[in-house]
Amino acid sequence: MKILVLGQGAREHAIVKSLIKTGTNPSHIIVAPGNKGIAAQVECQGDLDPTDPLAVSKFALENAIELAVIGPEAPLVAGVSDALRSQGMAVFGPSKLAAQLEGSKSFAKEVMAAAGVPTAMARQCKTIAEVEQAMEDFGAPYVIKADGLAAGKGVIVTEDSAAALEHAKQFIPMGILVEEFLSGPEVSLFFLSDGISVMPLAPAQDFKRAFDNDAGPNTGGMGAYSPLPWLENDFVQKVEDTIALPTIQELARLGAPFVGLLYCGLIVTQRGIRVIEFNARFGDPETQVVLARLITSLETLLYKASTGHLDSAPEAQFSSEMAVTVVLASQGYPSTQAPVRQVSGIEKAEKVNGVEVCYASSVGRVLSVVAVGKTFKKARKRAYTAIARIKLDGSHYRSDIAAKVAD
Ligand code: AMP
Ligand code: GLY
Repeated sequence: MKILVLGQGAREHAIVKSLIKTGTNPSHIIVAPGNKGIAAQVECQGDLDPTDPLAVSKFALENAIELAVIGPEAPLVAGVSDALRSQGMAVFGPSKLAAQLEGSKSFAKEVMAAAGVPTAMARQCKTIAEVEQAMEDFGAPYVIKADGLAAGKGVIVTEDSAAALEHAKQFIPMGILVEEFLSGPEVSLFFLSDGISVMPLAPAQDFKRAFDNDAGPNTGGMGAYSPLPWLENDFVQKVEDTIALPTIQELARLGAPFVGLLYCGLIVTQRGIRVIEFNARFGDPETQVVLARLITSLETLLYKASTGHLDSAPEAQFSSEMAVTVVLASQGYPSTQAPVRQVSGIEKAEKVNGVEVCYASSVGRVLSVVAVGKTFKKARKRAYTAIARIKLDGSHYRSDIAAKVAD
């Protein structure tokens, strides 16, 4: 089957690697625009703008694409899935309307309320005076969220009321959500959805803060591990029954069936599991660890989901190995943009047993080193041995990814 993957990050590189590892012929994959790491494995269309519905549709038709897999949120919000689907193509990625689950935090809250899905209490604010009132009512720590896509920079969690207000002022044109603060470990759990039913993948944990011990600002994600040995046995089933399925059913009821990947960002609080966010796409870097362990054909799973036949798909199976990924970020990330500098040592890093490198970009989150091993201790050792072989002036990475589960 001819597959078009849209996107250009380490997540898309991980998707490509997983497709190949689970049986897809590399010559059947095209990535647009891709990046230089992906281009070393499969064909890339660097000139194709993945957020241009007309250009993508034209390209897909001309190249007899049978399945389109959409990586990032921007093409979803731009309506690329709708354009491809209207040509009768199988598309893994929700419509513009259903992608509002990620694009609009207030829409997500409305869907959750209607579906009875547990989430943080929140108040929508249109003015700074309303934000101040909500902050006073909820108390510290303050959770302030921009009500729209803000490239991972829309959320601040802080004890400092001045910093909270400053953040609110920056994003007030989009609208602001002030939320109750929730505490507990975070879990990212992905579900494939065909619009009617869902199928869980393996749970992962993301490390969102820039520096060790969860210090520093929020980022897109600095590392992850999977599976999560500390979860209760029925956790995945519980999330499927009380969160993923009711959400999918509510979207179908609204006439916005969700076909693609439902990313449930969860906090396990003392009072139960709560949703902190939904995304309408694979998470980055969680995908790197989730797909590193996938054994079942990813092509089959994505195609079945895209064509409404998840019920006849094989159950997603994962290897018994543990997976850890550590992200290498360029100088100053996430606050300032570093100049483009040369990265070296990727081949040497990949010589470490059980290690693969998913390439992203020359600035920002540059790459993800992914390691698997029989234990977390082994996987971590491999990941950190490998990342130490990669040279990029001024770069940084966290040294505590999966440390707590590796003892
Ligand atoms: P979001 O973009 O909504 O996932 O938020 C980014 C990060 O902020 C999350 O991964 C959490 O670490 C944190 N966060 C978001 N909402 C809350 C909340 N209500 N309580 C505590 N932390 C939160
Ligand atoms: N790692 C968080 C995200 O993909 O949104």
